[in-house]
Parts: sequence; C-alpha cells; structure tokens
Amino acid sequence: MADKNVEYGVFLPVGSGGWIPSTTTPELDASYAYNRRVTQLSERLGFDFTLSQAVWRGYGGPSGHFDVNLESLTTSAGLAEATERIGVWSTCNTALLHPAVAAKMVATLDQVSGGRSGLNIVAGGNRMSENQMGLGLSLDNADKYRRAREWVEVVKLLWTEKSVDYEGEFFTLTDCQSNPKPLVGIPPMICAAVSDVGLRFTAENLDGALIEGTSRDSMIELGARARRIGEEAGRHLKTYCIFMVIPGETDADARRRVELYNAGRDDEAMSRMLAEHGVVARDKKAAAATAHEWSNSTAISTGTLIGSPESLTEQLADIISAADLDSAVFIMPDFIADLEVLGEQVIPALVRGGLGHKVAA
Ligand SMILES: Cc1cc2nc3c(=O)[nH]c(=O)nc-3n(C[C@H](O)[C@H](O)[C@H](O)COP(=O)(O)O)c2cc1C
Repeated sequence: MADKNVEYGVFLPVGSGGWIPSTTTPELDASYAYNRRVTQLSERLGFDFTLSQAVWRGYGGPSGHFDVNLESLTTSAGLAEATERIGVWSTCNTALLHPAVAAKMVATLDQVSGGRSGLNIVAGGNRMSENQMGLGLSLDNADKYRRAREWVEVVKLLWTEKSVDYEGEFFTLTDCQSNPKPLVGIPPMICAAVSDVGLRFTAENLDGALIEGTSRDSMIELGARARRIGEEAGRHLKTYCIFMVIPGETDADARRRVELYNAGRDDEAMSRMLAEHGVVARDKKAAAATAHEWSNSTAISTGTLIGSPESLTEQLADIISAADLDSAVFIMPDFIADLEVLGEQVIPALVRGGLGHKVAA
C-alpha cells in the first residue's frame, strides 16, 4: 500500500434512522445527546472531524426515516463546546440561508470552536424540503451552481473585507459588514456534489467534494472524475468519500446484520428519497439507471462495506488507493459499537498500512 495522507471523518446521525431506511436497524433517535456522545467518542478515537447534514424534511414511511433532523450549524456550536480537538463541520444549504447570515454564523462557530469549524455547502434543489417552505425554487443544476458561486464569493468577501459592495444576479450587498472574522482566515469549505456541473463549481471555488458512490467502481469513477475536473480548474480538488461500514466479528456475522436490516427495508421512504434527489426530473437516463439500481438494491445502498475488521481494512485500503481519495467519511448502523470497531481496529490498521493521518489516535 502506498503511503498517503488521509483524513478520517464521521458523518453524524443528526437525522433519525441514520442512513438505512429500515424498521429493523438499531434505533438512532437524532437527539443532540446521542450526537454529542458520538462526537466525543470520535474525538477520543482519533478521528479528524465530524460533519452533520442539513436536512429539512423526512421521508416518512414505517421507519419514519429522517423525520427528525437536528439543525446543523447550531448542533456544531454545542459540539464545539463539548470537544477540544476534533474538527466540527456543518452543512449549509445555500438556497435557504443568506450568505451574510451564514458568514457570521460560521465566523461565530469558528470562535466557539477555536478554529475547528468547516463548512459543507449544498446548492439546494431538494423539492420536498424547499417547497414546504414556499420557496418553490425551480433552478436547474446550472442555475443552482451559479447561485452557489455567488453565495461562496459573498461569504469569502465578508470573511476577509472590511465592507462589501456586491451587485450580483442573485445577491446585492451595500456596505455590508461582517465581524468577527474567522480566526483561520477562510475555514475549510467543501460541497456535496457528484454532477459534473457541481464538481466544476466545487473545484473552482472550494477545497473539496463530498461524494458518495454505490459501488467500488462508482467510487473509483467519481474519484477520477473529481481529479480530472480539479486539474482542468488548475488545482487539486480533495475528495471526501462517504462509506457505510457494517462490521461483524466475522464476515458471516456482518452479512447476517445486513440481511436483518434488509428484511425491514422501508420502500415507502426509499421511493420518496429517490424522488427528492431529483434525478427523475433532471435526467431521464440517470433516473432510469438509478431507479433500476434502487429497485434491485437493498435498504443499504451507499458505498457499503461489509465484513470483519480485517476484511473492512482490506476493502477500504483498496478503494482509498484505487480512487485516490483524500478522506473517508463514515456512516454505520450503530454509531457507538461500530464506531469503536472502526476507531480501535480498522483505522489503526489502515494507518499502519500507510494510509496515515495527522491526528494520532
Ligand atoms: C454525500 C452527499 C451528502 C449530501 N448531504 C446533503 C445535505 O446534508 N443536505 C441537502 O440538502 N442535500 C445533501 N445532498 C444532496 C445535494 O445537495 C445535491 O442535491 C445532490 O448531490 C445533487 O447535486 P449534484 O447534482 O451536483 O450532484 C448530499 C449529497 C451528497 C452526494
């Protein structure tokens, strides 16, 4: 295994049910108390950062998937006070929060956390979330990212300039002032996007792309595409890839867990999730492929790795190297027991194998 610096993160279960729409998974209640416990454990285990999503509408169904969701930025303020070292990253939907409000919130978070904040942005276009607020945004992908581009430009100006005058297509600022400034200048910023348009926007404006693939092949394709689009923009675009890990003492034990969760697959929630992701409206070919994949898939569909700690280590090392990833961001069915397996066995083995990170566990 080639030596490589990798950041290890945890995608916090701030949404009820975590990432498996099923009635037979461990109960994840999306409470702040649980997420604080997970974050403190992540810090103790040596993870580099935690990240919370920004979701405003659940998918219902028998599992009530994501029906409860903590707000990301305010959750991070609490988590920053509850920890000392770990990066505490938040997600902000650029369609929902004015950039001047977001700039000040993140600068405040930066002070609360002593420079440990980071921001994942999403460009919006989630119909169920936004329509319920009467926003009815009909921006297609190109429009969405033009808007997000302005949003990022405004935020960065407010973080670095005394006063900002800005006349854009979407935002107008007049002698707009934002203090305090972040301690770290511009905090790390990434964007959750997998489309070419989204990756191009990310490469030109931000530090990294938060990506997810459904298989080893799709992760390798995404890693290569992100790298190529970064090179076209003249810079290294970091890739933060989400992995669902399902550990067991043996491979067979892990597979039994998967069978149990799939037996409770919540089709109602899953079909709403598919519609919400908007593939259907945007691109018929992608919609057909995704619908086909989903109809054949199980309740667990995001880049899932299943097996004993040794087997998980092997699979992760292979994909991180083959896709040339900069960061692995983990989700799992049980964010205490499974996180301990990852932090105590899998990541130390990856580090010993040359996929090290800057934080000593
Ligand atoms: C890994 C990942 C995490 C995401 N997290 C969120 C989120 O927290 N909130 C949200 O509204 N959308 C989230 N999204 C959805 C994106 O905002 C966006 O709708 C989707 O990626 C489509 O963008 P694209 O067409 O540029 O890929 C996420 C997407 C990905 C890939």
